[in-house]
Amino acid sequence: MALLPGRRPRLAVLVSGRGSNLQAVLDAIAGGQLDAELVGVFSDRPDAAALARVAPELRWSRKARAYPDRAAFDADLGDAIAACNPDWIFCAGYMRILGDAFVRRFEGRLLNVHPSLLPMYKGLHTHARALEAGDAEHGASVHFVVPELDAGAVIAQVRIPVLAGDTPETLAARLLPQEHRLVNAVLALAVAGRLAEHAGQVQVDGQCLFSPLQLDSAGKLHPASRA
Ligand code: GRF
Repeated sequence: MALLPGRRPRLAVLVSGRGSNLQAVLDAIAGGQLDAELVGVFSDRPDAAALARVAPELRWSRKARAYPDRAAFDADLGDAIAACNPDWIFCAGYMRILGDAFVRRFEGRLLNVHPSLLPMYKGLHTHARALEAGDAEHGASVHFVVPELDAGAVIAQVRIPVLAGDTPETLAARLLPQEHRLVNAVLALAVAGRLAEHAGQVQVDGQCLFSPLQLDSAGKLHPASRA
């Protein structure tokens, strides 16, 4: 995405829950690791704990159930986001399905973090499903959002081993800090103007990515073969 010189990239974040990913982004901005301006935090749940992590003037929330249908809620949400003029929109634990019109409106700048090694385990209960399948590895993915749930082009992943005795809770707890590192690494690429999506394919520095980048223990993203 082409950025105007001297203007900090503008980032909007969508949340539904506790907001640990949002907090990781806030910490990275405050610590100077992420050169972005947070322009708004948007929620379908006015009681989401995540909202309290930012100043009131940055918060937008409406009860989705108060709207006649998904399209009406999405239109209101989309107008509020568009009014902030964000370069990137990051779904950080946003649990409501986004409709086709919304996704098309923000196509190419809408990112999501999902707690699985996509394309495995789209949807809910990813940790339990990885354990039930007997997987040796689990992880998280950051991907472009498309209308089909968790099906967009995957930009990057982080992997952790599944340990003997893991429960969905222990696996989730071990993955979460890695997920935060992954999110900040991908957002850093995005706000640096190095990330794009064309015809359903991820491009980094103008080159098509044929498999997701992998996050290493030093927090760097590498092509899959070098991780
Ligand atoms: C994360 O695990 C994210 O991958 C998933 O929901 C969780 C949100 O956590 N989509 P938080 O609200 O960011 O703490």
